[in-house]
Amino acid sequence: MAMIAPELIIDNDATEACNANPGRKVLAVDKLTKSYQEGKVVLNGISLELRAGEFVAVIGRSGAGKSTLLHTLNGTIPATSGKILNVHRDNTTDDVLTMTRKELRAWRTHCGMIFQDFCLVPRLDVISNVLLGRLSHTSTIKSLFKVFSKQDKAKAISLLKWLNMLPYALQRAENLSGGQQQRVAICRALMQNPKILLADEPVASLDPKNTTRIMEALQKVSDDGIAVMVNLHSIELVQQYCTRVIGLEKGKVIYDGHPSGLTETILHQLYGDEIDQLD
Ligand SMILES: Nc1ncnc2c1ncn2[C@@H]1O[C@H](COP(=O)(O)OP(=O)(O)OP(=O)(O)O)[C@@H](O)[C@H]1O
Ligand SMILES: [Mg+2]
Repeated sequence: MAMIAPELIIDNDATEACNANPGRKVLAVDKLTKSYQEGKVVLNGISLELRAGEFVAVIGRSGAGKSTLLHTLNGTIPATSGKILNVHRDNTTDDVLTMTRKELRAWRTHCGMIFQDFCLVPRLDVISNVLLGRLSHTSTIKSLFKVFSKQDKAKAISLLKWLNMLPYALQRAENLSGGQQQRVAICRALMQNPKILLADEPVASLDPKNTTRIMEALQKVSDDGIAVMVNLHSIELVQQYCTRVIGLEKGKVIYDGHPSGLTETILHQLYGDEIDQLD
């Protein structure tokens, strides 16, 4: 293990092991900072890269800045300084911090986000909720009358099938369990063909069976070449599913590497006395 800087531990051996077959770089974050109020720094100089196919967990105690990090990456919360570079296939880049509103809307289709409360339309059926993922590609009038192309419908059906939700396609979203709603939310996010999928505590409100289903679904998504980044509170889930973990403490990255490199010392640094309350 190599100490890069006093506050940053990068487990090089483990990182190489988990990146034995790394995908292309899709995002490069450099010295990212965020302050909601002057003088109160929430993200404090975060630098990291994301690669296609990674399944990355962000961990840290409550208030460490996990949700803020995800929202700034996706552009729903404006960052204060630094760079969030969208890396294209030809290695050219665009910076999320300098994007216009229109560019930001386009960015959010590449960098999809699943919100903690799913944000489905409760009275609409499952397949229509999934098709709403195409909203940014469909005119408002067409989407109001649920006029979607044959290709879009075929894709929505295949996504629902992929996550074993096809039998529920015509049920109203409000009649589904939390885990089922979460799977629909994943399908809706995937309708946009994102290269990055962010999820803020995707299993927070789920029972163990649905938690397994969602973690397996997200693993499938990453196996398909999408970079998946999730905030998690369970170290056990991180160890079981993720290929990489980023530990945040007071807005700084103090660990970036394979979950197997999370030692007691690092966990203690991340969680302090709250460590006993973790799963
Ligand atoms: N809209 C806001 N305005 C002002 N301060 C905020 C806002 N959102 C978050 N904060 C503050 O920023 C800090 C980080 O919050 P954030 O929600 O990112 O933490 P977190 O790691 O996701 O915590 P949790 O595990 O509880 O979800 C906290 O001190 C919080 O009070
Ligand atoms: Mg949070």
